[in-house]
Amino acid sequence: MSATKTELVNRLNNKQATIGIVGLGYVGLPLMLRYADIGFRVLGLDINQKKVDDLNQGLSDIEHIPHEKVAKAITQGFSATTDMSRSKECDALILCVPTPLNSYREPDLSFVTNTMDALKPHLREGQVISLESTTYPGTTEEELLPRIEESGLKVGESIFLVYSPEREDPGNPNFETRTIPKVAGGHTKACLDVGIALYQHAIDQLVPVSTTKAAEMTKLLENIHRAVNIGLVNEMKIVADRMGIDIFEVIDAAATKPFGFTPYYPGPGLGGHCIPIDPFYLTWKAREYGLHTRFIELSGELNQAMPAYVLGKLMDGLNSHGKALSNSKILVLGIAYKKNVDDMRESPSVQIMELIRDKGAALDYSDPHVPVFPKMRAHKFDLSSVEISAETLVGYDAVVLTTNHDRFDYDLIKQHAKLIVDTRGVYRQPADHIIKA
Ligand SMILES: NC(=O)c1ccc[n+]([C@@H]2O[C@H](COP(=O)([O-])OP(=O)(O)OC[C@H]3O[C@@H](n4cnc5c(N)ncnc54)[C@H](O)[C@@H]3O)[C@@H](O)[C@H]2O)c1
Repeated sequence: MSATKTELVNRLNNKQATIGIVGLGYVGLPLMLRYADIGFRVLGLDINQKKVDDLNQGLSDIEHIPHEKVAKAITQGFSATTDMSRSKECDALILCVPTPLNSYREPDLSFVTNTMDALKPHLREGQVISLESTTYPGTTEEELLPRIEESGLKVGESIFLVYSPEREDPGNPNFETRTIPKVAGGHTKACLDVGIALYQHAIDQLVPVSTTKAAEMTKLLENIHRAVNIGLVNEMKIVADRMGIDIFEVIDAAATKPFGFTPYYPGPGLGGHCIPIDPFYLTWKAREYGLHTRFIELSGELNQAMPAYVLGKLMDGLNSHGKALSNSKILVLGIAYKKNVDDMRESPSVQIMELIRDKGAALDYSDPHVPVFPKMRAHKFDLSSVEISAETLVGYDAVVLTTNHDRFDYDLIKQHAKLIVDTRGVYRQPADHIIKA
C-alpha cells in the first residue's frame, strides 16, 4: 500500500479527514448532513452564491430538509463557499452536480466538466474524488481521469478516483442516506479501497463493484428499469381503460403475488431529475457502439405521450358536461413531480398546464408544496397556489389531479368539484363526476 493511500485511509478512518461536498442540492445537502452528523468536518462548495450564503446562515432551500438540520451542521463544523481553491482543504471531494439533457436530448456533462476544470488547479496529493452524478458508463474514465492526471498526479497512487451513484429518494420517509446501500467502483483497486474508507462510516452497506463503468451502468439500469416499467403500466392503463377495467385494482391484485412481480403505477407522465433523463444517457452512449436501446426509446415514447392522454380525457369529460375546454376554468392539483415534495423538475403537471393553456382555458393550480410557480428554464406561469375550499372548488369546470400530495383533502375535493380527472388512482370508487386518466 502506498504511503499516500495509507495516510488517507487512516485520516478517513479516524474521522480527521475534511469532506468536501461539491454541489449542495437534493443529493449533496443530505450527504453533507450525514458526514457532519458522524463527526467529520465538512466543507460545501457550490457556484450558487445565494445558496452558499443561505446555508452559512443555517437556511435550507429544500423543503424536506429543515433549517434546524443545517444550523446543527454549522455547529458541527460545516461551512459553505463558492471559492473552489478551498477544495485544497478537503481530503475527499464528492461531486453531486447536475447531469441534465440538452435541447437535443443528449447528455449535458458541462456541470461535471466545469466542476472538474474548476477543481483541477487546486488538486493535491492525498485526495479522493468521488463522482455521484448519474451519467453514462465511461464518464469517470473519459472526463475525470484525464483532467486529474493533467495536474501531474497519478490516479491510484497519489490521488484516488471513485464513482459512487447516489440513490436519494426525496420525500421517502422509509429511507435515509445511511440506510440506502451504496454502490462504488474505483478506477484501480487502491481507489476502491479508499472509496470504501470514505463511505463506510456514512453508509450502513457498501456494494463494491469491479470498475467505475460497472457502477455507472448500475445506476442507469436501476433508473431504466423504472422508466421501462412505468411505460409498461401506462400502456396497460390505456388498454384497461378501453376495456372498462380499473388498472389500479389490477396492479394491487397482481402485487399480492409474493415473487416475480413488482408493482409500478401509471400516472400523468414521468417527472424529476432522474427517470425521464438518465435512460437517454445510455441511449446516447450506446450509439457509439452501434447499438440502439429500443426499450428506452419505446418507454420514453409511451411516457411522454401521457400529458396529451390526460388532456384528451379532460376534454372528453368536459364534453360530456356540454363544455369546451377553451371556455372552461381548470384547476390543476399538485404541480411538483411527485407527492409530498416541492421539486418541479421535469414535472408532467407543467406540460399538462401548458397543453390546457394552449387550448385557451382559464387555468389555476393548487399545490401546498409550491406556493408560487417558480422560475423554470423552459416554462413560465404567473400563478400562485390557490387555497382549496368548497367555494373555490365549485368555481372550476374541472380539476385535474396530477400529483397526489397527502396534504390535499380528497373528500372535500370529491364533494365539491364538478368534474375530477384523476391521473393517480386516488379515487377507487367509481363516480359520475370522476374520470380516470
Ligand atoms: N434529486 C435526486 O433525487 C437524485 C437522486 C439520485 C441521483 N441524482 C443525481 O445527482 C446529481 C445531482 O442532482 P441534484 O438533484 O442534487 O441536483 P441539484 O440541482 O439539486 O443540485 C446541484 C447543485 O450543484 C451546484 N452546481 C452546479 N454546477 C456546479 C459547479 N460547477 N461547481 C459546484 N457546484 C455546482 C448547483 O448550484 C446545485 O446547488 C445528478 O446527476 C442527478 O441525476 C439525483
